[in-house]
Amino acid sequence: MELKVNKIEQGLHGTVTIPADKSISHRAVMFASLADGESIVKNFSKGEDPHSTVRVFKSLGVNIDFLDEQTLKINSDGKLKYSSIPLDCGNSGTTMRLVSGILAGENFQSTLIGDESLSKRPMRRIIEPLEMMGAKINSKDGHAPLIISGQNLHSIDYVSKLASAQVKSCILLAGMNADGTTSVTEPYVSRNHTELMLRYMGVNLNVEGKKVSINKSKPEPRTIEICGDISSAAYFIVAALIVPNSDIILKNVGLNTTRDGIIEVAQKMGANIEILDKHETSGEIVGDIRIKTTSTLKGCKIEGEIIPRLIDELPVIAVLATQAEGTTEIRDAKDLRNKESDRIKATVNELKKLGANIEELEDGFIIQGKTELNGGCCVETYHDHRLAMSLYVAGLICTKGLLINGFEWVSISFPEFEKLFNSLM
Ligand code: S3P
Repeated sequence: MELKVNKIEQGLHGTVTIPADKSISHRAVMFASLADGESIVKNFSKGEDPHSTVRVFKSLGVNIDFLDEQTLKINSDGKLKYSSIPLDCGNSGTTMRLVSGILAGENFQSTLIGDESLSKRPMRRIIEPLEMMGAKINSKDGHAPLIISGQNLHSIDYVSKLASAQVKSCILLAGMNADGTTSVTEPYVSRNHTELMLRYMGVNLNVEGKKVSINKSKPEPRTIEICGDISSAAYFIVAALIVPNSDIILKNVGLNTTRDGIIEVAQKMGANIEILDKHETSGEIVGDIRIKTTSTLKGCKIEGEIIPRLIDELPVIAVLATQAEGTTEIRDAKDLRNKESDRIKATVNELKKLGANIEELEDGFIIQGKTELNGGCCVETYHDHRLAMSLYVAGLICTKGLLINGFEWVSISFPEFEKLFNSLM
């Protein structure tokens, strides 16, 4: 599907409630399926990825009913059942990697498959630690399909080279099915939704800095209310900062400190962002934020510990950086090349087409600003929802607008995206 985006002349105004967090939606279905009893999940994401997780757990014998479009009733006896059909994870890396950890210790065999993009993504990062725990996994040279023959697992003390919540969560979930204490240490702390939700569901975890430890355990059923996704809010934050005369309020945004790098970077660039209200929902910090156009943004360096806290926002941060005075340098983000697309190459290629001054680095990019974006061309999404949404935001300030080819990929995480933007125009 092609979408034409036009330059906004009057600014963005109004209030938007940010839809449910994708990472937390996945975990709610997974952990409620592992619990013995009835859980209710409220404000579940409408994105295709979390629905892939629902499909997988239904195939594993869990009773999951939609009470309405966004409310799930999950009834489980806490025991997953053998599936004779392959478990289809769609486009979702979180589904494939976390479910691998769950199934590695079951007493049956499972086959995990994914779409073309997911089948190209690296799975060795989870196969290696799971094999250290005693798992048996066959892959296609480190890629899906994964054939997992469930085994009795033993604990490990794993020191990961990657700061990855998917790797960390996979090992912790396998650890819940293993004898002894399983630990994961990361170079930097990645998103901690697994730790927070497991705790909320009564599981004992020990967190000491970058090390998380878990023993054999089972979550208890709960009612889980999912907060808004800061990664979805990021497109509105950047748009309001760079579209002249904007003033918007975003409601129900997850403000978990392992995810809030976008706010920290925007403020470092000089952005006008106000946190209006903060409260807790099902173990996560949530708030409303107000963003006003900031005409004098300045470039900055983004590297090290903040990278996992804004990893999914880097393409739209690149758009923001084109409107900041001076140099913005993004480093230590090599894993961006392993996402739904090679997001370093894709971002550089497409923003160059619009007139941005952006240079590709092995582990990030350098952007010189402030540049007027002309557009007036057709850009590609690389079958990647985050590219589609970042390019849409760029289109709002392109003097000649732009045409986005493959815009339908937004529905992977955020089907309401265009409708919510239209409500601010
Ligand atoms: C996710 C973790 C991140 C992120 C992805 C979702 C999660 O990946 O990019 O979109 O839900 O755990 P990594 O953990 O591989 O960095």
